[in-house]
Amino acid sequence: MNALDALLQRVSVSKLTEPAPTQPQREAIFSAALRAADHGRLRPWRFLLIEGQAREELGALYAAAGLEDDPAVSADTLERYRQMPLRAPLIVVVIASCVEHPKVPEIEQIISAGAAAQNMITAAYALGLGAIWRTGEFAYHPSVARGLGLAQHEKIVGYLYFGTPASAMGKALALDSSEFFSRWPC
Ligand SMILES: Cc1cc2nc3c(=O)[nH]c(=O)nc-3n(C[C@H](O)[C@H](O)[C@H](O)COP(=O)(O)O)c2cc1C
Repeated sequence: MNALDALLQRVSVSKLTEPAPTQPQREAIFSAALRAADHGRLRPWRFLLIEGQAREELGALYAAAGLEDDPAVSADTLERYRQMPLRAPLIVVVIASCVEHPKVPEIEQIISAGAAAQNMITAAYALGLGAIWRTGEFAYHPSVARGLGLAQHEKIVGYLYFGTPASAMGKALALDSSEFFSRWPC
C-alpha cells in the first residue's frame, strides 16, 4: 500500500486477535515511530512492549489502581480492568520522556510522542494489521505509571494495541476538508 492510501484510509480496529505482528512487521512499525517530527531531535519518547503474560501483569496494575481509587469497587469492575490488556496480542505503551530545553517546550515534545504513535498505527494499517490507540483513566494514573517504571517527568501518551483484525476492517469516515480548512485573512 502506498503512503497516501494508508494515511487516507487508516481506521482503528478495536477487536484484535492473534497473531501479533511478526518481527519484520514490528521493525517497520517501530522505525515509523522513530520518523516522527521531533523539534531539536530530542527523541523525547520511549516505548514499552507488553505481550503474553505481561498483559496480565498490566491488568493487575489496572485493578490495583482501580481499587486504590475506590475501595468499594465491584468484583466485576475489577475483572473488567484485569481483562483490558488482553484485547490485543501486543500493546506498545508510548511514553513522552520530556527534557528541559530552552527552545522546545514540553508540549512540543508530547506532540512528537503523539506523532510517533500516529506513525505506528498508520504503519500497522499499511501492513494489513489492526491497531487502535487507547488511553482511558489508566493512562493517567500515578500508580500505573509507577508500576510501569515511568520516571516522575514521564507521561503515557497512549497504549497502542496491535494484532490481527478479528473481522473485516471498517471504512474510514469521509470528512469534508472545507469544514476544517479556511483561508486567512477571510
Ligand atoms: C490520545 C487518544 C486517546 C484515545 N483513547 C481512546 C480510548 O481510550 N478508547 C477508544 O476506544 N478510543 C480511543 N481513542 C480513539 C481511537 O484511537 C480512534 O482514533 C477513534 O475510535 C476513531 O477511529 P478511527 O481512528 O478509525 O477514525 C483515542 C485516540 C487518541 C488520539
